[in-house]
Amino acid sequence: MAKNGSISSSVIKRLPRYYRFLGELKNKGVERISSRELSVLMKLTASQIRQDLNCFGGFGQQGYGYHVDNLHSEIGKILGVDKHFKTILIGAGNLGRAIATHINFDTRGCNLIGIFDINPDLTGIEVAGLKIAHTDTLADFCKENSPSVAVLCIPKANTQKIADELVSMGVKAFWNFSHYDLSIDYDNIVVQNVHLGDSLLRLTYGANIIDSNE
Ligand code: NAI
Repeated sequence: MAKNGSISSSVIKRLPRYYRFLGELKNKGVERISSRELSVLMKLTASQIRQDLNCFGGFGQQGYGYHVDNLHSEIGKILGVDKHFKTILIGAGNLGRAIATHINFDTRGCNLIGIFDINPDLTGIEVAGLKIAHTDTLADFCKENSPSVAVLCIPKANTQKIADELVSMGVKAFWNFSHYDLSIDYDNIVVQNVHLGDSLLRLTYGANIIDSNE
């Protein structure tokens, strides 16, 4: 299997989609699928699928196709889904609470173990089975529990400072929703900046093209 660092970012970007489609096939009881069938389902070319999966040594067999369960679990391993990274969420406002409640962290390699907010009025309120804790308790919590992933749902102005603090407490990866493009000057820190508005702009770009062609 290729080392993850040597896999192109465009392949990595497609892996969660493979994982999702294969998970759905698995849930439907499908045992095997050819690259052609998978390509029709995913609207990719069969050669793209073979090329992508070959990056990891390929999981298909000539004349058999792919074993859905095996491929799903192998891609899951590449994505780190079996690791259950200890995860904390900072900022239990509208967005933070929606994410804590509606994202299934467990099936995506993360185990949400703590939710923190600076607002004392929120302390003790239960969200997704966890009681919101005050950020004053964050350092002790990190010392005891060593979370490695943090979800940031705080306003832009506070993001760099809190990220710096979290790195010093051992956090290695950020899922960052604050509208601040987090760039941390530490080695081996992973950041995913998420801007839902950017996705909407890609949509309006497409809608604009259709509109101009009519
Ligand atoms: P909100 O005002 O409902 O919640 C923000 C929460 O963060 C509050 O509970 C506040 O007490 C807490 N907070 C502020 N500073 C903190 C700190 N230093 N440590 C811990 N907690 C702190 O706002 P909402 O709607 O939940 O949005 C949160 C942020 O996410 C906003 O900055 C918003 O612009 C951004 N956002 C980003 C989206 C995206 O696609 N990336 C989509 C929607 C919102």
